[in-house]
Amino acid sequence: MSKHEYIAVSERDGLGFIELNRPKVLNAINRPMVSEIVAAFEEFDRNENVNVIILSGKGRAFAAGADIDEMSADGAIDLELLNQFTEWDRLAWIKKPIIGAVQGFALGGGFELALCCDLLFAAEDASFGFPEVNLGVMPGAGGTQRLTKLIGKSRAMEWLLSGDRFTAQQALEWGVINRTIAPELLMEETEKFAKKLASKPPLSIRLIKESVHKAVDYSLYEGMQYERKNFYLLFASEDQKEGMKAFIEKRRPHFKGK
Ligand code: CAA
Repeated sequence: MSKHEYIAVSERDGLGFIELNRPKVLNAINRPMVSEIVAAFEEFDRNENVNVIILSGKGRAFAAGADIDEMSADGAIDLELLNQFTEWDRLAWIKKPIIGAVQGFALGGGFELALCCDLLFAAEDASFGFPEVNLGVMPGAGGTQRLTKLIGKSRAMEWLLSGDRFTAQQALEWGVINRTIAPELLMEETEKFAKKLASKPPLSIRLIKESVHKAVDYSLYEGMQYERKNFYLLFASEDQKEGMKAFIEKRRPHFKGK
């Protein structure tokens, strides 16, 4: 496994854990941290002992945004040449389900990172926002796009233009997160749910995730074709044979991910 300075990585019971680990600066995301995060996700995606990935932050924030100190002196051409945000794009290619466990602040780039997760569980005291507007900039790692696709134009406009922080309850009501959890139970409950997913046939989980993502970008017709091919593909798996045989024989299935 790669060496990490800005994140902590571990695995157990079929789960891969990535923890943002710059608590003194509320896990502000600097460039090497992005590289570490992306590499860790890709390693877990290739690791056959890991079925589900959990992303969280150490300390009192999930992440308070991109590292303002690092980018404050940047020029536009520096940023164009650096092309740093293409690294974030690779998160969209992770095939295994990602659950974000958010406590404290998820702001700016931290909120954008949370929006790269497939499911979001948040502590009741978590807060979400895009404060970039208050810095004279705007989200640059997918915030205006992912949030709008997720909750629609009107609500996204309110969030993005105001720069206000919203509560976990508001995020739940608007469909940004899946559930709120008492802060002291956040990791336990997230892990419990992740283990449930980890016990399911991995190929089904993989292709369901992929198909849902296509629904966001494809027309209904194209999406339906995509779904159908994935449905057919699963009939080439040993797990489909086992799952249906076990149902008929009235026993528990033993899935192998093949
Ligand atoms: N970048 C760099 N450092 C940060 C940071 C960030 N995004 N957020 C917090 N920190 C640092 C603070 O500078 C402070 O460091 P020192 O102790 O060395 O002074 C430390 O973290 C603790 O923060 P505060 O003392 O400010 O803590 P607080 O509880 O008073 O306030 C907060 C918390 C409201 C989250 C506040 O820290 C804050 O407003 N942070 C910035 C939020 C922000 O604007 N994020 C957007 C960044 S731009 C972006 O993300 C662009 C993009 O789309 C990719």
